[in-house]
Amino acid sequence: MGKLRSAGIVSLASAVPEKVLTNADLEKIVDTSDEWIRTMTGIAERRMAAEDEATSDFAIKAARVALERAGLKARDIDLIILATFTSDAPLPATSCLVQNALGCQGTPAFDLSAGCSGFVYALATADAFVKSGAYERVLVIGADVLTRVTNWTDRSTCVLFGDGAGAAVVAPSDEGAGFLAFELGADGSGAGALKISGGGSRKPLTHEDLDAHQDKIYMEGREVFKFAVKIQGEATERVLASCGMTTKDIDLIVPHQANTRIIESAVNRLGLPPDKFFVNLQKYGNTSAGSIPIALDEAVREGKIKKDNTVVVVGFGAGLTWAAGVMKWVY
Ligand code: ACO
Repeated sequence: MGKLRSAGIVSLASAVPEKVLTNADLEKIVDTSDEWIRTMTGIAERRMAAEDEATSDFAIKAARVALERAGLKARDIDLIILATFTSDAPLPATSCLVQNALGCQGTPAFDLSAGCSGFVYALATADAFVKSGAYERVLVIGADVLTRVTNWTDRSTCVLFGDGAGAAVVAPSDEGAGFLAFELGADGSGAGALKISGGGSRKPLTHEDLDAHQDKIYMEGREVFKFAVKIQGEATERVLASCGMTTKDIDLIVPHQANTRIIESAVNRLGLPPDKFFVNLQKYGNTSAGSIPIALDEAVREGKIKKDNTVVVVGFGAGLTWAAGVMKWVY
């Protein structure tokens, strides 16, 4: 088999709801305090979808701007991958709604479910399609509206989540630029630590289940915290080693935006200065599959990522899953 070509992100964009939900707002809903939320999570506020907004609305907005920034029309896209676990409805795939709104009927589209690791899983999938020559340009979107699946009576989870989307166009790049390596992983033995129990084929929802919030996120916070702290550092080290790099080569790490304490643990483990980590969770909370592309887009717009920089993305979430990638920035 001949040498595979390289692929990378050639444009990015993000979209979040207008409505801001502050810690003070949450103090009126559950027994919590601004101080507890800031100290334990780093979050100050998050965005919340309006009643008539859904995941596809933010995915479409982000996708349109990403296409415009790449100088492309929707018809130029050969494949759409949407990472989400909060689809507009169980059927059809939300990526098909995005495709229709963009006006590129016929283009293949599918949803990918890997919790908060979803966007990096989707990037790795797009990389494989472009590298192999199967497709030229792939639109990769990470989007979630977590406030729809939040249990507003559970103070240990409802303070964490927010809504938003990010989109990237993946296309061929010069040799040695773009994606250098990915590490994807899953450990289904931890499935029970972060889940929505009801509403699937195992447990169709009853009225009693709805009363017991079985249609909402349940999380064993400490278990997920321990897993996140361990896997974030390990996956980063392994993905760097797989392309002959070390932490010294990193210009910026864009981690999943879940909790500043989880990010601080990576700062300590990897022995890097805090300013090598991009953090914007204070404004958005944990937006699941939206988190990394929203952060990447902001980092680029703030000039913190420039052409030829070595950038690491690392995510973890429900599954339990994890995903890390190293890239040499293309533009
Ligand atoms: N306000 C005030 N007190 C609270 C709140 C709150 N919002 N939530 C919990 N507490 C209390 C608890 O009741 C407990 O009180 P107690 O000691 O009297 O029993 C105390 O604070 C400590 O609670 P813990 O849950 O043990 O605190 P912990 O240090 O684990 O922090 C947190 C909780 C922030 C949720 C943390 O576990 C965490 O960040 N976990 C990881 C979450 C995550 O990153 N998920 C990512 C994936 S999400 C996805 O895929 C959708």
